[in-house]
Amino acid sequence: MKFRFPIVIIDEDFRSENASGLGIRALASAIEAEGVEVLGVTSYGDLSSFAQQQSRASAFILSIDDEEFDVDSPEDVANAIKNLRAFIGELRFRNADIPIYLYGETRTSQHIPNDILRELHGFIHMFEDTPEFVARHIIREARSYLDGLAPPFFRELLKYAQDGSYSWHCPGHSGGVAFLKSPVGQMFHQFFGENMLRADVCNAVDELGQLLDHTGPVAQSELNAARIFNADHCYFVTNGTSTSNKIVWHANVAPGDVVVVDRNCHKSILHAITMTGAIPVFLQPTRNNLGIIGPIPLSEFHPDTIQKKIEANPFAREALNKKPRILTITQSTYDGVIYNVEMIKQTLGSSVDTLHFDEAWLPHAAFHEFYTDMHAIGRNRPRSEDAMVFATHSTHKMLAGLSQASQILVQESENRQLDRYMFNEAYLMHMSTSPQYAIIASCDVAAA
Ligand SMILES: Cc1ncc(COP(=O)(O)O)c(C=O)c1O
Repeated sequence: MKFRFPIVIIDEDFRSENASGLGIRALASAIEAEGVEVLGVTSYGDLSSFAQQQSRASAFILSIDDEEFDVDSPEDVANAIKNLRAFIGELRFRNADIPIYLYGETRTSQHIPNDILRELHGFIHMFEDTPEFVARHIIREARSYLDGLAPPFFRELLKYAQDGSYSWHCPGHSGGVAFLKSPVGQMFHQFFGENMLRADVCNAVDELGQLLDHTGPVAQSELNAARIFNADHCYFVTNGTSTSNKIVWHANVAPGDVVVVDRNCHKSILHAITMTGAIPVFLQPTRNNLGIIGPIPLSEFHPDTIQKKIEANPFAREALNKKPRILTITQSTYDGVIYNVEMIKQTLGSSVDTLHFDEAWLPHAAFHEFYTDMHAIGRNRPRSEDAMVFATHSTHKMLAGLSQASQILVQESENRQLDRYMFNEAYLMHMSTSPQYAIIASCDVAAA
């Protein structure tokens, strides 16, 4: 499949008639002769906005030549190195893998400090090799970088959509063909484009694996996401966190179980209470004079308070097992109220079986120190001794996922492992047998 990822060359002399301009243009032509696009610019411009171009490039070639790098002037050298370091720092902050080359004279290379050299794929010595050879070398590295970009499921979906197989399976539009038979279908086809329709396939396509029993490339992508989010398990869900919440509940809660629920919970949790036949006791959040709900006061989380609520509830106090089966907290309300998960694990980890954090609005939290301990599962987060921890994420809300992209993360406790077969029965109960593959791919890509 043809993607547009030009090799970006930054050289003051890119359009000049001097030796260095001729040299860099010869390299650019040699790259283009291999069928690869080149984007030539003459300055870094605004550092950070330029570094953002990393997502559209397949490699960077930064030229440092004599004029900006006058080796006889220590001040010039220090200045040039400062600019170079800032630019490469910006690039690497956003992209650890993209190939970066410096291009210059051999005597210039001797002045490049180690911390900069370490970030490079190479130093191209001006006039040492033929432009054709250098071009092929850079293109090889650029291709290898691009080949490594797509995560497991998206990679296979790309392959499948481009290999020209006829579609004999559902959906009935057969790779988009049915849309071509009517004027309005043509409009639809032209608007959404062929790739979306070719990639809209049935779960009978073996080579893409199965979301429903977590096999093949889909399973690899769920494993990859589990690794990235530091969870023991990750399950992609294509019907939103409304469905993820119900799956978590049906996997853990039986009729007559006592459950503890944030009174300001999402409707899907209320539906889960109804569907499982659980007996809820509610944690009551505060509401301020602006109408903003939350936080739940600390005292509400105390095991004694919860026991009192159970005793005060005519159904709960008659329950066979009064140990709450699950606690569900809205972890980030719509207004941004969040709780310290480690505190909740310590306070309730032994008196509630399962801690469920509805993180529909918080899938990004694992990636910023601002949220340390204020989200369910992440790096260096200790296991609870007894309580299993679940997080449900709307990938589509705060990460780059298509609508309805969602995921369930699980952190097992020291004493309990997830029964994956039991869990999957609940998963199957709520999942469609025709999941939308573009949504699965967006879960995969959002994680990557
Ligand atoms: C706290 C909470 N949980 C769950 C959901 C449902 O998520 P989805 O829209 O992905 O089904 C929402 C949606 O707004 C929500 O705010």
